[in-house]
Amino acid sequence: MKVVRGGTVVEAHWSGPADLLIDGETIVAVLAPGAEADPAAEIIDATGKLVLPGGVDPHCHVGFTSGEFTSLDSYRECTTAAVFGGTTTIIDFAIPRPGQQPLEAAEIQRAKAGDGLCDSALHACVVEWDDTTAGQLATLADAGIRTVKMFTTYAGETMADEHTILNTMQTTRDLGGMVVIHCESDAIVTDAQRFAAASAGIDATHMAKTRPELAETASVAAILAIAESQQAPVYFVHQSTAAAVELVADARKRGLIAFTEAVAHHLTLDDTAYSGSDPERFVCCPPLRSAEIVEGLGRHLFTGQITTVGSDHCCYDTAQKQLHRHDVRHMPNGLPGVETRLPVIFSHYVGGLGLTPSRFVELTAANPARTNGLYPRKGSLMPGADADIVLWDPDLEWTVTTEALHMATDYTPYEGLRVRGKPVTVLVRGTVVVHDGNLVDATPRGRHLEAAPLDFRLC
Ligand code: URP
Ligand code: ZN
Ligand code: ZN
Repeated sequence: MKVVRGGTVVEAHWSGPADLLIDGETIVAVLAPGAEADPAAEIIDATGKLVLPGGVDPHCHVGFTSGEFTSLDSYRECTTAAVFGGTTTIIDFAIPRPGQQPLEAAEIQRAKAGDGLCDSALHACVVEWDDTTAGQLATLADAGIRTVKMFTTYAGETMADEHTILNTMQTTRDLGGMVVIHCESDAIVTDAQRFAAASAGIDATHMAKTRPELAETASVAAILAIAESQQAPVYFVHQSTAAAVELVADARKRGLIAFTEAVAHHLTLDDTAYSGSDPERFVCCPPLRSAEIVEGLGRHLFTGQITTVGSDHCCYDTAQKQLHRHDVRHMPNGLPGVETRLPVIFSHYVGGLGLTPSRFVELTAANPARTNGLYPRKGSLMPGADADIVLWDPDLEWTVTTEALHMATDYTPYEGLRVRGKPVTVLVRGTVVVHDGNLVDATPRGRHLEAAPLDFRLC
């Protein structure tokens, strides 16, 4: 038995002083502060700390191959960084390589879970529809892989056509799952890239113009129409503008089950990074937007129109990002962020702008678990939940540096940023893994999590 004593428990739906009783891997009771517990129980002192459910990162690419590049981390490396950053569940993607089927891609990725320091789940991915796809999706759903990633861009790689998207939406809807989709109009992007290449240039300093906001809103509108035609639930990944978020909010008002994910870099960084000293390090899709758009997006954390905050973690290093420095079309997209997601969002939005700690937990743990069939086992501190617990020091000020982080790359987009708030002690299924900022148990204990049929009443 363990007791987490003296802290302020923060759940998505309440917060207040309370102690947590842990038996083995599970939370078994939420106790009044200082309540008597088994005298043999180990006490974990949480005085002055917020006691949060471990973060659930709904969007995390591990060892992700795209074109000629593979992101650099293993499950062990990614989850080590995750736990240092207060995240105790990652949701990765099984993206088929050319010629590979979704089922095979998922089996390969699922086999890596045991190497993790924390638990993980998977989104499957459909690129092309054939006679076997519905059956494969049913097999995957039986194995607890119910969310299916799709892309409206990256032609020739992972882009799916509208027939494939509609078929996949129908099938996942009937299997208790959901399509999770990257929306950018490939035609608008390709045209903008061609124009840039023929005029101002197509190196990273021009990144923002090569993937305009309109490419995102046009694609979101098209996908919402397909989802509405099927009354299929849909989750939009990494929405980067208020306009895109509002299209989804309007569809929700019409009765569609639809969700918005925003990611930490779109909420905290802007396109001035493309005129800085290392613009390639900030190349991601959708790109970083103007400060005004970032502010508009961030407002929707407060209005309730953003459902989750993910990282879209992609662990490329500077050499990979700079190999094709003259042409963004050939650069690997994505930023490392599994470890910095919670601290930068907490510092900027909770400490800086007054987001409540409960809403922070809702966005970064509870809702990611709910939309992925993992709640309340993950993303909550209720009795019966896995004892994935973070003791968070809300007042600890620190400077983000690559050296202080654990991601398998040589940079962070937040180098030199002063932040306030840090996870100091992290439990994974009842075991203290990080204590006082040090890794104290590196045992690989990761489990592949099977998603329950999605219950949208929870969301
Ligand atoms: O730039 C990004 N987001 N790269 C990762 C792949 C994806 O589109 O999510
Ligand atoms: Zn994407
Ligand atoms: Zn992604």
